[in-house]
Amino acid sequence: MLGITGGIAAYKSAVLARLLIKAGCDVRVVMTRAACEFITPLTLQALTGNEVHTELLDAEAERGMGHIELAKWADVMVIAPASANTLAKLAAGMADNLLTTICLATSAKVLLAPAMNQAMYAHAITQDNLAKLHNFGYHIITPDAGEQACGDVGAGRLPEPEDLCEQILAVIKKRSTPQVLAGKSVIITAGATTEPIDPVRFLSNHSTGKMGFALAAACRDAGADVVLVSGKRVSLPTPAGVMRINVGTADEMLAACQAKMSELLASTDQNQTAKNQVIFIGTAAVADYKTANVATQKIKKTANEGGLSLQLVRNPDILALMSKTYPDALMVGFAAETQDTENYAKGKLAAKNLDMIACNDVSNQAIGFGSDDNAMTVFFAERYQKARTVLPQASKAQIAASLVACMGEILAQS
Ligand SMILES: Cc1cc2nc3c(=O)[nH]c(=O)nc-3n(C[C@H](O)[C@H](O)[C@H](O)COP(=O)(O)O)c2cc1C
Repeated sequence: MLGITGGIAAYKSAVLARLLIKAGCDVRVVMTRAACEFITPLTLQALTGNEVHTELLDAEAERGMGHIELAKWADVMVIAPASANTLAKLAAGMADNLLTTICLATSAKVLLAPAMNQAMYAHAITQDNLAKLHNFGYHIITPDAGEQACGDVGAGRLPEPEDLCEQILAVIKKRSTPQVLAGKSVIITAGATTEPIDPVRFLSNHSTGKMGFALAAACRDAGADVVLVSGKRVSLPTPAGVMRINVGTADEMLAACQAKMSELLASTDQNQTAKNQVIFIGTAAVADYKTANVATQKIKKTANEGGLSLQLVRNPDILALMSKTYPDALMVGFAAETQDTENYAKGKLAAKNLDMIACNDVSNQAIGFGSDDNAMTVFFAERYQKARTVLPQASKAQIAASLVACMGEILAQS
C-alpha cells in the first residue's frame, strides 16, 4: 500500500508506484486530501490499475474496500512523501483521515519517508515525532540532503524513486526471508583490487563484484548488519542498508577489514563467542602481486623502447591473515579456479583454517566473472556435520541466498 500526503515531492510517488509495480508489487494507493492538491488520484489510478482511496467517512467508499479491509490487505505500507503533519498525527496516535486510520489499524510493517522543508525537518518536534515513531516500530527512511524545491539547502528531500524503491523492496525481502543471521555482523570483501604501476596505470583482474554484492544483500535480508569492503572500480549500486567502504589496493583492503573487524569485536556481546556473532566473507579477487615500486611519474614509452619489466612482490593474503588474527570469527572463503577446483578449494579450506569455502570454476563462461549466474560446491571444515553442499547453476542472488543458508546451518552447530 502506498500512502501519499500533501508535500511537494508527491510527484515522485507516481514514479515510485510504477517502479514497485514493475518489481512485482500489487500497489493500492491511499491519498490525503492535501496530497490530492499536488497530484491527482486519476494519475495514480491509471498507473496502478486500482481505485485510489481518499475518504474515510464515506459510505460509498466503505461499501467497496473499507478502511479495515485495506489495513488487513496490506503486507507493507509505505508513506512517501510523509508530511510533517501526518508524522505528527501518527506519533500522537490520531486517526482522523483514511491514511492515519489505516496506519493504526494495520499489522503490516509501515515505512515512512519524511519529506519537507529543511527547517520543518530539523524542528525538535518533528525529530521527536520521528524518534517516537521509530520506537513504535515504524521504519523511517532517511531523507536526502541537498537543494530543496523551496530553494533552501539541507536535509528533508524525498530520495529519488529508484532509491526509495530499492529500500522498500529490501524491507519486503527481509520480511519474507528466514532471519538466520539476525544479530550477526558480516564483513564481505568484493570486486577486484587495483595495484598501481604509476599515477595512470594499474594491475587488476576481471572481477565485477557481482557475487559479493549479491551476498551482501542476501546477508542483509537474513538479518545481518553488513559492511561491504569493495574494490573502488566496482560499478554496481550498493545494496540498500549495506555500509560500503571503497578501497584500491590489497593493502588498503586488508587495513579496512582489520579496522572494521576490531571495531566489531570490541562491541560484541562478551557472553557469546565471536563465532556466533561476527562473520568474515572473502569474495574479492585480491591481486596476488603488487609492483615492488610504484613510479611517481607516468612511465614514458620513449624511455623504455626496448620493453619494460615490472618487478612484482607478493601481496598479503587477506583471508589467511584475517583467519589467523581473528580465529573466533566465522570465516568463509571463495575459490575461483580454472582447473582441479575441488583440490584447490579443500586445500585452501584447511590451510587458511576456514569454516566453509565456496568453490566455482571460472573457466566456464556461463558462471564466471561478470556473468549473472553461478554454480558452486561448498565444502565445510571437518568439525561440522556436513562435508559438502552442491549448489547447481542459478542466479547469483539465488546462490547467495543458498550460501547464507549454509552459514546458518554451521552457525547453529558452532
Ligand atoms: C506548496 C506547498 C508545499 C508543501 N510541501 C510540503 C512538504 O514538502 N512537506 C510537508 O510536510 N508539508 C508540506 N506542505 C504543507 C502540507 O501540505 C500541510 O501541512 C498539509 O496539512 C499536510 O496534510 P496531510 O499530512 O494530511 O497530507 C506544503 C504546503 C504547500 C502549500
